[in-house]
Amino acid sequence: MCGIVGYVGGRKAAQLLLDGLRRLEYRGYDSAGLAMVAPGASDGFGLEVIRRVGHVAALMEAVPASQAGSTGIGHTRWATHGGVTEANAHPHVDGTERIAVIHNGIIENFAALRDHLQEEGVVFRSETDSEVLPHLIRKFYKGDPLEAARSALALVHGTWGIAVVFADHPGVMIAARNGSPLVVGKGDGETFLASDPHAIANYTRQVVYLEDREIVKITREGWEISRLDGRPVSHVLHELGIELGSSEKGLFPHYMLKEIHEQPESLSRCLLGRVVPETGGAKLGGFDLSPRDIVGIRRVGILGCGTSYHAGQVGAVAMEQLARLPAFAEIASEFRYRNPVIQADDLFLAVSQSGETADTMGAVQEAQTKGGRVMGVVNVVGSSIARTCGRGVYVHSGPEIAVASTKAFTSQVAALLVAALMFGRTRVLGPGEGRAFGDDLLAVPERMAGWLDTYGMAHHGPIIDAVELLTKARFVFFLGRGVSAAVAMEGALKLKEVAYIPCMSYPAAEMKHGPIALIDANTPVVAIVPNDLMRDKTLSNVQEVRARGARVILIHTEGDHEAARLAEVSIPVPKASALITPLLTVLPLQLFAYRAGLALGRDIDRPRNLAKSVTVE
Ligand code: F6R
Repeated sequence: MCGIVGYVGGRKAAQLLLDGLRRLEYRGYDSAGLAMVAPGASDGFGLEVIRRVGHVAALMEAVPASQAGSTGIGHTRWATHGGVTEANAHPHVDGTERIAVIHNGIIENFAALRDHLQEEGVVFRSETDSEVLPHLIRKFYKGDPLEAARSALALVHGTWGIAVVFADHPGVMIAARNGSPLVVGKGDGETFLASDPHAIANYTRQVVYLEDREIVKITREGWEISRLDGRPVSHVLHELGIELGSSEKGLFPHYMLKEIHEQPESLSRCLLGRVVPETGGAKLGGFDLSPRDIVGIRRVGILGCGTSYHAGQVGAVAMEQLARLPAFAEIASEFRYRNPVIQADDLFLAVSQSGETADTMGAVQEAQTKGGRVMGVVNVVGSSIARTCGRGVYVHSGPEIAVASTKAFTSQVAALLVAALMFGRTRVLGPGEGRAFGDDLLAVPERMAGWLDTYGMAHHGPIIDAVELLTKARFVFFLGRGVSAAVAMEGALKLKEVAYIPCMSYPAAEMKHGPIALIDANTPVVAIVPNDLMRDKTLSNVQEVRARGARVILIHTEGDHEAARLAEVSIPVPKASALITPLLTVLPLQLFAYRAGLALGRDIDRPRNLAKSVTVE
């Protein structure tokens, strides 16, 4: 959630750190700060700490271009403990102001640690859990930074990714990880640290990923990693992929709009080489499952949060329909604590864009603890979930910077559809059925591109008409059935998070069991009604809300004039087979959120209270 960046080397660190923070800002953006180990006015080195509330831009203004110091740490914060104030922003320092710490995660026993430290006379200056860290490290500091941090962390319960600098050791940085990602990057006479390789990809391509309960001493020449209990460990260097490069906005005013428009391309990348028309099947090498293994699977559980959970819901329906495999999707934070029944022939798929979501990671670990097989369906290469699962597929969306997920959703759905096709072809589908489905899937990127050409940037037409209704509403309903119920949930989530418009999504038939009481004259209802087996029944539900005065925005298959006639605003999407429709019906919903957010003056790429990668529970 928060972002960490660190540098030890020969260059002036401040501008490098600010550049890294700017790249990380999508992970959390309540406040930002940095600490530099810089030559003091009189004797030796001291710490210079600069913090600002708000976006990284505010910090950039506060840091002088001439800022000295070749060792430093920087942080962007997403508040957990304590409000958004300068005092609560990181870095935090010890009482002597010679040790500075930045922290991602949550210190669960911070209250007990703070009480104890206060009894010893320590004065706290913030409301954060993180501030116990510099004070604890100071308590154990006898001249050796590594051992001081190691001793302090032995007392801490919770999750952390931390970086620490010491005024007494200008060329040293200590970092440690437990449940919050950290990557160390190798340069030429300089070493980088970050919570996300994006922050440092411009400076180095060679990295190592720290594992949980590891601690590292970093100098400009390199690093030494050990376990917190003192055992030495060795890591191989990873080469960062080229996909990390293209994270600029280009000519688009917002990342969200750019990422919506990237979908034909990201989807093609996800499908590339995976759908095999010759056999009517599909190939996901990362799963490493033989046909015999696939026949032996008895149940598929798909775990994720937010948008990734919605993609999982589509995947579960597809698994049942294409592969005749019992399947369910579940919110990871619920799964991990309900003591689920897990059997040896279950297969779990953990869906995550970032690969760092704490709740999804917890669900993966719970399934693994109970002997379950878990594979990742992940976007960020080398991320914690991908590495913990060991096997799985990358969805290849490319960097997704806007906080609201768009292109990751379509790639996740596509990867799950490919998995369902692969399993289905082995278990129940004939070559003709498999080929027809695969062909339809391969046709989507072009259909998407055509649709986006017409509607993506249009300044008038049905998207704008729909946005007009939505932005005036007190409350909006999203309805759909089958896979479209998952799309309805995704549309409602997007509109809430980007435009802050209260909304609700329901499987359409469920409305009459209670929520229809909320409909009155002028309530906008967005109905997702592609031409599938449920079309007629969903249209009946649309009639029911119309009869109560709802203003219907209807997303339907091109050429379905009967459906279009029921709507005040009707939006056609290209034809596709039923399970594939989410890849197309979600496009207008993404644009609704974007355009409504824009019309209401929202911070599109960094909506309030949110962060891109949710690394706390
Ligand atoms: C919504 C959104 C979130 C994420 C969720 C899971 O637009 O982005 O709901 O989908 O936090 O994140 P990942 O996929 O990174 O595990």
